[in-house]
Amino acid sequence: MASKILIIGACGQIGTELTMALREKQGKENIIACDIREGSKELMASGPFEIADATNYHQIEDLVIQYEIDEVYLMAAMLSATAEKFPMKGWALNMDSLFHVLNLAKDGKVSKVFWPSSIAVFGPTTPKQNTPQTTIMEPTTVYGISKQAGERWCEYYHRKFGVDVRSIRYPGLISYKTLPGGGTTDYAVEIYHEALKTEKYTSFLKEDTELPMMFMDDAIRATISLMEAPAEKVKIRSSYNLSALNFTPETLAASIQKHIPDFEISYDPDFRQAIADSWPSSIDDSAAREDWGWRHEFDLEKMTSQMLEGIKEVHHV
Ligand SMILES: NC(=O)c1ccc[n+]([C@@H]2O[C@H](COP(=O)([O-])OP(=O)(O)OC[C@H]3O[C@@H](n4cnc5c(N)ncnc54)[C@H](O)[C@@H]3O)[C@@H](O)[C@H]2O)c1
Repeated sequence: MASKILIIGACGQIGTELTMALREKQGKENIIACDIREGSKELMASGPFEIADATNYHQIEDLVIQYEIDEVYLMAAMLSATAEKFPMKGWALNMDSLFHVLNLAKDGKVSKVFWPSSIAVFGPTTPKQNTPQTTIMEPTTVYGISKQAGERWCEYYHRKFGVDVRSIRYPGLISYKTLPGGGTTDYAVEIYHEALKTEKYTSFLKEDTELPMMFMDDAIRATISLMEAPAEKVKIRSSYNLSALNFTPETLAASIQKHIPDFEISYDPDFRQAIADSWPSSIDDSAAREDWGWRHEFDLEKMTSQMLEGIKEVHHV
């Protein structure tokens, strides 16, 4: 029998595609989407949806009981750039929602949890190139502090209470179906939209700011494959490093110019530059590759072709 899955924060950049992929794979009636707001037409029409607040334990518990949920994917969070503006709200959302889900698992009400971490757990004292799985972590953003604390709590709940919690430190995610929700790597999505609309883009990061990134299809495949892996293969219960590509705004612009030769990029860094400067440039994800067989499929050229085609098709640009 297919597991019954609850996706919290299902209307966001990752949640939308994750919900659609799981519905396709496991049957729409088995995948319950919830969020504090409604999502895209495609998402709303594709299966069960409920409005619920991730910070309200009883609302989440009610859904778990009503739909006899086995697994929870907690995608609701306040992202890096927004959380710098609303630190206490960001901390409360990111931590309260995680405790609610971990406690539901501890009490045996759900059997498996996915919770996303981020490359934001690293900080300026972390080795920047090929950042190891286990290394110095002194995050300097509210978001990074919440993800670091979250990782420690996931591992604690696993060790102390046997909770089957699994996690990935996502790099910046690039997608065309849903717009990003206030992160530091959002430029790498906006640039494609503006390239098609106006053939110009002003980047809020400097030309040589190299960050780890990944195309959404790879991130969704990684997430589902980690959740499907036998428990004994999931050796890391804080969060797995995961890597696909690393690029700068300048190299991304050059890959777009191969398709749109007149495309021009300019640079006007803002407060997000300091956040990006504190993060790694590239990530060592050998543990994910060894433990549960992670392989990425999209390189920069393949991603750029897919992004430009996808935006034209979905957004009629
Ligand atoms: N997108 C990325 O590049 C990226 C990178 C690293 C980690 N992550 C992590 O992945 C997860 C999902 O990120 P995303 O990019 O899809 O974020 P997003 O901002 O696009 O989506 C988050 C969703 O959560 C919902 N939400 C907010 N508060 C809520 C609440 N109280 N109750 C219920 N729903 C609520 C929002 O309405 C939104 O639909 C987050 O934990 C994020 O930190 C994302």
